[in-house]
Amino acid sequence: MTRRGAMALGGLAAVCAMASADSGDDPVFTAAGSLPAVLLPPAPHIVMAALDVPPGQEAVRAFAALAHLARDSGGGTQATIALGASWFDKAGLAGARPTALTSMPPFPGDVLDDGLVHGDLLLQVSAATAERAHQVSTSWRRTAPSARVRWEKRGFRPDSRLSDGRALARNLFGFVEGHGNPSFRSGPPPAEVVRVAPGSGEPRWAVGGSYQVVRVIRFATRLWDAEPVHVQEEVMGRRRDGTWLDGTAPTGRPAFDADPDGKLTPLDSHTRRANPGTPGVPAPRMLRRGYNYHEGPDSQGMLFVAFQNDLERGFAGVQRRLAGHPLDRYTLTVGGGYYFVPDISCGDPFEFVI
Ligand code: HEM
Repeated sequence: MTRRGAMALGGLAAVCAMASADSGDDPVFTAAGSLPAVLLPPAPHIVMAALDVPPGQEAVRAFAALAHLARDSGGGTQATIALGASWFDKAGLAGARPTALTSMPPFPGDVLDDGLVHGDLLLQVSAATAERAHQVSTSWRRTAPSARVRWEKRGFRPDSRLSDGRALARNLFGFVEGHGNPSFRSGPPPAEVVRVAPGSGEPRWAVGGSYQVVRVIRFATRLWDAEPVHVQEEVMGRRRDGTWLDGTAPTGRPAFDADPDGKLTPLDSHTRRANPGTPGVPAPRMLRRGYNYHEGPDSQGMLFVAFQNDLERGFAGVQRRLAGHPLDRYTLTVGGGYYFVPDISCGDPFEFVI
């Protein structure tokens, strides 16, 4: 390894050492660390900023400055700092890259805008108000003055609430999202789905971290709004409040095997394609934490965000299954990226979550 690389890894280790030394048993502090913010009920407003940094020590310095602030954030602010594949090259650390971290490949149907994809770093700051999220994000970025904003989006989660151990919000198509996420009350704990486990073949420093996928998905809201509600619900495979089309409660799972031809829940509906429950198709393993964005009638939609410890069992496998499904008629993916959120809290941050 180059001297620069060793110094950069030392930088990561130093962030961890500081976190362990300071955190003690204070759950509020621990909650503020970068990765745990991923597991907290999301605050209603977010600023996502993808940053490009100069190569060399400056790449390391920019990450360390933002990681330090993310680790120490509090007062209702949730923050994550994530690394793109390109950061590892710039920092001279290509050999330390998480095994599946590449720049996001285009998927069928994507029309990616160069100004809305990738980034060496991704800083996510969420808070109770849009003003607070914006103010924190911009003031933090001043500590990394060499970082240039590659793209930035502001998002919001209306009707944000918790139900049955899941965080819910309403998207701009009028549907509640979050019911199909892993629950903090039952099933595999979200942390197990999100965090890289020891012995998984990932570099040692990546253990406890998470792959983050972002997709900037534009909605054709006028086209959607012109559809009768029953058509929208067939496209989605759930009613707007989350109830399944066969009447199963939002928190349950319908018996798809009793509906093999999709008479009740169409086979190509979004939720059934995403998680068909058929033998050989394992349930998706990811925690979705999306936000709406609205910049005007022709630029609005979803900042789809998913955290997972395995990209194939999480986002990528599901995205391939969704290709060409009816929801695509109303949506267009124009941006996003693949990133890795290191666990900079370095304690056992999950005990206290919910
Ligand atoms: C294109 C815009 C999208 C919209 C409007 C949308 C909307 C929804 C809605 C309303 C639900 C049902 C409630 C819930 O479980 O959260 C849902 C479920 C789900 N979506 Fe999406 N989604 C979109 C994109 C995606 C993408 C890109 C993926 C991943 C590749 C994805 C994966 C899932 C999964 C895994 C479920 C849960 C299925 C289950 O287990 O029941 N969605 N989505």
